Amino acid sequence: MPTMNDDVRKLFESIGSPELEYREVAAGERWQAAAQRWPILAQTNRLIQERRQVQIPRETTQRSRTGRCTTIAVVSLAGGTGRSTIAANLAATLGQNGRAVVAADLDPQNALGLHFGLEGGESFGLFSANLAPQEVALWLARFRSAAAVLPFGPLTGAQIAGLEAASAREPQWLQKRLAAFVPNETEFLVLDTPARASPWLKQALTLADTVLVVLGPDAAGYATLPATEALLDEWVPGGQGRRRARYLVNKFDARRALDRDVLSSLRGVIPERTFARAIHADEVVSESLARRRLVVREGPESQVVAELSALAEWVEVTAAEMRKASPLPLVSVGSR
Ligand SMILES: Nc1ncnc2c1ncn2[C@@H]1O[C@H](COP(=O)(O)OP(=O)(O)OP(=O)(O)O)[C@@H](O)[C@H]1O
Ligand SMILES: [Mg+2]
Repeated sequence: MPTMNDDVRKLFESIGSPELEYREVAAGERWQAAAQRWPILAQTNRLIQERRQVQIPRETTQRSRTGRCTTIAVVSLAGGTGRSTIAANLAATLGQNGRAVVAADLDPQNALGLHFGLEGGESFGLFSANLAPQEVALWLARFRSAAAVLPFGPLTGAQIAGLEAASAREPQWLQKRLAAFVPNETEFLVLDTPARASPWLKQALTLADTVLVVLGPDAAGYATLPATEALLDEWVPGGQGRRRARYLVNKFDARRALDRDVLSSLRGVIPERTFARAIHADEVVSESLARRRLVVREGPESQVVAELSALAEWVEVTAAEMRKASPLPLVSVGSR
């Protein structure tokens, strides 16, 4: 059952409202009413609840882990939800907080770097062929104390098909690739992922301590939830994928009835602890990208930046705790 937001609770307490108890119950009913107003929400909730009836055995084998890095995969099966925006700005905010952060682009669109001011024409990339270790070191040195970005690289269709084939053959393919790029001292590795199912999306989900599922506040995004949970169940052993998933609603606009109902319905159907937060729609976000700048630099006083800061704080606490509890290995970081 959803619980009342802490700020709202404090407000009620400070004004001595006798309705606190009643309102908790009302919130519990509201999410079902919200879903009933929109057939796709009700149908999606049914599919999620059916899936949750199926018990998945827990992973019992403890595997060894190396490094101290917490990995967050930012995912969605719908395109354009804001994965790259969230990945870039989350990484940058963690970097501003003094953390050693790397943001890695696993999407052939090669767009993550744009948020960090790259032009997209650079030949350097996580998947570019024949890079010497010195070139990687030189690239990372560009970012000094800020979050470093590893672009996907400008690859041709044939090269991408080759990578897909190689990663399909070798389950450790992504882990090995990241190991050659991510410095040992990295504390947070943020993975921007492609929207479509691919061998390396599977590997990213397996590596991640936290899978941050980004949803748009619309029917199309909401309808991807059962397929997302199905992928997590299928691809990450022992039910760990579903346990590590945390949900974030992006581009939320509280003036729109459907946005409010999507948020309310989501918060009702998933366990409360798996809800990360909602980030509002704000034109400063799209304008920042158009200027190839991070939102956290472009609009530091905006509501959306306050929300991104809260997300980074949440990641520092929650994702790090989830990492400690996780039996799967993290990226075995390289010798650099
Ligand atoms: N909170 C927000 N408010 C307003 N616009 C946003 C917000 N988040 C993202 N956008 C805009 O939505 C568009 C898509 O964002 P982004 O590229 O981050 O999504 P994506 O999920 O990575 O997309 P793709 O599937 O193409 O990789 C961009 O123009 C971005 O500026
Ligand atoms: Mg993207």
